[in-house]
Amino acid sequence: MNGLKLVSTGSAMPERVLTNEDLTKMVETNDEWITTRTGIHTRHICSQEESHTQLCLAASRQALARSGIAPEEIGVCLVATFTGDHLNPATACVLQKELGLPEDTVCFDLNAACSGFVYALHTAQCLLSAAPRKFGLILGAEVLSRVTDYTDRSTCVLFGDGAAAAVVEWNAEYPSIHAVLGCRGNTEVLYTPGVNTSSPSYIHMEGQPVFRFAVETVPRCISQVLEQAGLTAEDVDHFVFHQANQRIIDLAMRKLHLPSEKCTGNIAHTGNTSAASVPLLLDELVSTGALCSGQRALCVGFGAGLTWGGALLQLK
Ligand code: UT7
Repeated sequence: MNGLKLVSTGSAMPERVLTNEDLTKMVETNDEWITTRTGIHTRHICSQEESHTQLCLAASRQALARSGIAPEEIGVCLVATFTGDHLNPATACVLQKELGLPEDTVCFDLNAACSGFVYALHTAQCLLSAAPRKFGLILGAEVLSRVTDYTDRSTCVLFGDGAAAAVVEWNAEYPSIHAVLGCRGNTEVLYTPGVNTSSPSYIHMEGQPVFRFAVETVPRCISQVLEQAGLTAEDVDHFVFHQANQRIIDLAMRKLHLPSEKCTGNIAHTGNTSAASVPLLLDELVSTGALCSGQRALCVGFGAGLTWGGALLQLK
């Protein structure tokens, strides 16, 4: 016990859609390669006028409006990201001001790359148990287009922008989310240089070792969450995978014998949005009515760090 439930979700996507066809005019690639190797058809990209903060605000406002929870009831605000508009203040601090969250709300950004939202859920569960107010506002948000090299075909076809927010509630009677988090430090196969480098700060990824890492880690992480929770895959209504590559999801589904109807994805129209990926899919499942009240979603993220994380979230 001592757990979280998901109260509501919200999301915001930039207006511009970048298609595979558009990318063929920028680098030597083709729709067939991108589609068959990744499952991606389109992704959303911010214009110069759009910002990370704007996306986060829009997603938060939608999630709060859908929850019926007032900003004054939020005790913790966390933003999982590595592409905020500034190194500081944290996006979560800007949200505190713009949304009118109480000044004693714990607000910070968290960088666990594509595992960030799951890390944030676990962090929120720990923090909310000690917070004066029991609702948390948890976001995953990225503007990856700002750190994507659009001359590198091996990465630029993958990434997209977007933000999603979740209002969660902590209660001593709710089941734990049974988070399983892990890290295998690696600065070689997947990284984004920071401010101390002279070269532009673009995402660097060696696809194959990261693919192998994901295929090894994801099924094990799911099994460990289920074991901790004393549940089986049959008890889970939706598996919410980080949308990095449809082939990784298919391999995990096959290994764990998961039915495809429990593994709906949205990679085809979002691309890989790193920390935003899991909550964007959660929002899609909730807003289409696919994830219903009382149902369980097992969220799993993996990515730079290298990190991974899985957690069970029940919709209130
Ligand atoms: O979100 C964080 C976690 N990230 C992941 O989990 C990503 C894991 N990795 C992957 O999803 C895949 O490795 C990629 C989608 C990134 C790449 O797919 P792949 O099947 O591993 O391709 P590859 O890198 O082995 O490249 C195969 C070929 C190469 O050509 P040669 O050497 O065989 O002649 C590449 O140069 O495909 C070529 N290639 C492309 N061709 C057309 C690479 N990118 C492209 C492209 N269009 N965009």
